[in-house]
Amino acid sequence: MSNDVVRALELVTLDVAANAVGKTPHNIRDYIQRGRISKYNDKGEHITRAKNGELRVSLKEVKLFLDLVNQGIEKHHHAGLHPELGFHGLAEYKRTKHVHRLHPYLGKFIPQLVEWFLTRYFKEDDFILDPFMGSGTTLVQANENKVHALGVDISPFNCLIARVKTDKYNTTKARQEILDAERRTTLFSKQLQLRGEINNHPSDDAEIETTIAQLMEGCDSEYLRAWFAPRALLEMLYYRWIIPDYEYRDLLRILLSRAVRSSRLVPHYDLATPAQPLQPGQVYWCRKHSRHCTPIDNCITKIHAYSEDTARRIAEFESLRSDKQTFVVQGDSRNIDFQTILSNTNLAGRCFDGIFTSPPYVGQIDYHDQHIYAYELFGFPRQDELEIGPKKSGKSKQAQQNYVDGIAAVFRNVMPMLKPDAKIFVVANDKFNLYPDIARLSGLQIVERFHRAVTKRTEQGDDPYQETIFMLQRHNQFKYYSLQSLLRIPITA
Ligand SMILES: C[S@@+](CC[C@H](N)C(=O)[O-])C[C@H]1O[C@@H](n2cnc3c(N)ncnc32)[C@H](O)[C@@H]1O
Repeated sequence: MSNDVVRALELVTLDVAANAVGKTPHNIRDYIQRGRISKYNDKGEHITRAKNGELRVSLKEVKLFLDLVNQGIEKHHHAGLHPELGFHGLAEYKRTKHVHRLHPYLGKFIPQLVEWFLTRYFKEDDFILDPFMGSGTTLVQANENKVHALGVDISPFNCLIARVKTDKYNTTKARQEILDAERRTTLFSKQLQLRGEINNHPSDDAEIETTIAQLMEGCDSEYLRAWFAPRALLEMLYYRWIIPDYEYRDLLRILLSRAVRSSRLVPHYDLATPAQPLQPGQVYWCRKHSRHCTPIDNCITKIHAYSEDTARRIAEFESLRSDKQTFVVQGDSRNIDFQTILSNTNLAGRCFDGIFTSPPYVGQIDYHDQHIYAYELFGFPRQDELEIGPKKSGKSKQAQQNYVDGIAAVFRNVMPMLKPDAKIFVVANDKFNLYPDIARLSGLQIVERFHRAVTKRTEQGDDPYQETIFMLQRHNQFKYYSLQSLLRIPITA
């Protein structure tokens, strides 16, 4: 266990923990005995039995637990947090290891959570499905765990992120292409600066003037013109323009999109869900840096920041990946025809051994909108209206009912492709207690609930919350269900 992890856990004795949170050592011991908080030794290792003087608790975990108790989402005595699923000591760089940081994504889970379940419930060469794939965390982790995986997502851009993360590369060539695109854009950027682009002064250089005119002609997006400073806009349009010169175009698109996202005219503390753009050069009080800042005026700084980083990350994953297959499918999970999709692959005829997924939740995120800059830049078609539970539809009773129907329709569609004993894991912060209904409508039963505190998702604010991983299996009374599904007879509640 590294010193970093020990430090991150803030390991202390029971007395110190009790003092720090205004409880008695007896209270802290009680939380341990009831499985609310974990037991560690002084090296930060989980232990089941402590030798004399060895027992430590994580002060961070104790505070988090009491915070959740105060918020009413955790109790002192029952249905507690799973001691191993908090990942309290996990450093940020591990949660975003290799390709998981190729592009930001609001609402992704950490790979270690996927790994925990894959290791315990699946074996090598199994085949799993993620019908709400998002940025592909399940697929990447499944590949590392030597498990085949298929992911579906309605958002074309999310599919691009997932494909780029899971694609195989000649990493030397990919690196060369990334660095070449960076070099060419740097040259263009220098020309822009010489030209005094910031003040928009045309130069005598006919070639650069023609390039700029062509780039601006190719940009009919009001959004791009409003959310980027003039120089940033030209640099990103230039990068987009040269992408067709390379083999690994999607990789370059993701790199560019990441750079573009960080180059918007937004406050540094508000990259995830900015409401409106600042003006170029506008001074604002920055909550992130505790000083006055101005928004970024260029894109090349971010292209520099992410070029080497992208090359390194794909090379790192390349050295870890297995030969198992990953499939990325764009579409609506309520009606994907899995058999046809798999028919031309070497997994044709196979059923899924299980599912690991985190569906959207009612009224929380608009998944297309969070990457609006990428849709505007690349012109991908959007299918917002097919998102289940979008933020723009709110959280009303009707929205909840639509959500239940939508998620249940996905499970019913998948059912014919599931092995009879398939294990289904669904990660959800089920505030409205909708999953019992969803299970019933899908012919599934909830066989176990794992509760975990979430403190490690980036970009969802700092407030910890609790989420549940529902483990579901086919309901016994629905043993005949598979036949019904094969015949596509809709199940009624
Ligand atoms: C919570 S996110 C999944 C995040 C993912 N676990 C990750 O780590 O990146 C839910 C995803 O469901 C997708 N989604 C919403 N409605 C869908 C539908 N009808 N069919 C397929 N995917 C859908 C959204 O686009 C979103 O990417």
